[in-house]
Amino acid sequence: MPDARIIDGRRIAAEIREEVRAEASRFFDTEGIRPRVVFVLVGKNPASEVYVRNKGIAAEEAGFSHETHTLPEQVEEDELLDLIRAINADPATHGLLVQFPLPKQVREERVIELLAPEKDVDGFHPLNAGRLSIGQGDYFAPCTPLGVMELLSREGVETSGRHAVVVGRSNLVGKPVALLLAQKKRGANAVVTLAHSGAGARLGEITREADILIAAMGVPKAITAGMVKEGAVVIDVGINRIEDSSRASGSRLVGDVEFETVKHKASAITPVPGGVGPMTIAMLLRNTLLAAKRQRAGAIPSTR
Ligand code: GUN
Repeated sequence: MPDARIIDGRRIAAEIREEVRAEASRFFDTEGIRPRVVFVLVGKNPASEVYVRNKGIAAEEAGFSHETHTLPEQVEEDELLDLIRAINADPATHGLLVQFPLPKQVREERVIELLAPEKDVDGFHPLNAGRLSIGQGDYFAPCTPLGVMELLSREGVETSGRHAVVVGRSNLVGKPVALLLAQKKRGANAVVTLAHSGAGARLGEITREADILIAAMGVPKAITAGMVKEGAVVIDVGINRIEDSSRASGSRLVGDVEFETVKHKASAITPVPGGVGPMTIAMLLRNTLLAAKRQRAGAIPSTR
């Protein structure tokens, strides 16, 4: 069997970003509204600083209005909550993203529950998570899981009736991607297994059943060739920084999949970096445009 096709997340993300830019420009021409997204960054986490900077660049390139609030590491929880209240109340802002992780004195669930659901372009608020689970009403799904679905769709990977095994049960990726894959609609309708560390030594037995394998457990190179069925489509959501003395930086990024061995077994595979990663920002832009359109249409869910 030939080596796997490498799924080019950078190319697909660039296509989507261009589509969003064009659609946002049409929206501005017809409605006079420029989508606006506000980012909140707390502290000095280097990875978060890079992510938020890249999100700002992407918003700029899409023609959105955007702003980043940077708060000190020692910020009081109440100060952050007050900032969120102010952004929630600003009718000119359509999307709000608080970058995680947050410092320990701030309770993440307080932040998530305070977000106005109609501006929660991360899809973290319980109303959005609940509606995704129920499959009804307007909601935002989280960006990385949406990016996985979009990669599968644009690569022409059939999901209907196929067995998708998701490894990892986080609220950020594992749970929502399992729900999206199982939805009864085009581009989904998969038979889904949600596997996780609780599988212990049986994990390989379960992953070998997968036609589509989604690795999202956050363990570097945990999925090895022996755990993958011949011809499977492998989507690697992991972003792990490991030591590498051969690099000037002393480290490099690897996924949750052992790419070098699994590529001989899979029919298609996403690399790290350059696979799922770039899709997250593309889907954030799409969610923000959707938020602006929904708010224009007055479709605000009443929760409070
Ligand atoms: N931290 C890591 N991934 C994400 C994400 O998708 N959104 C936010 N807000 N924080 C993150």
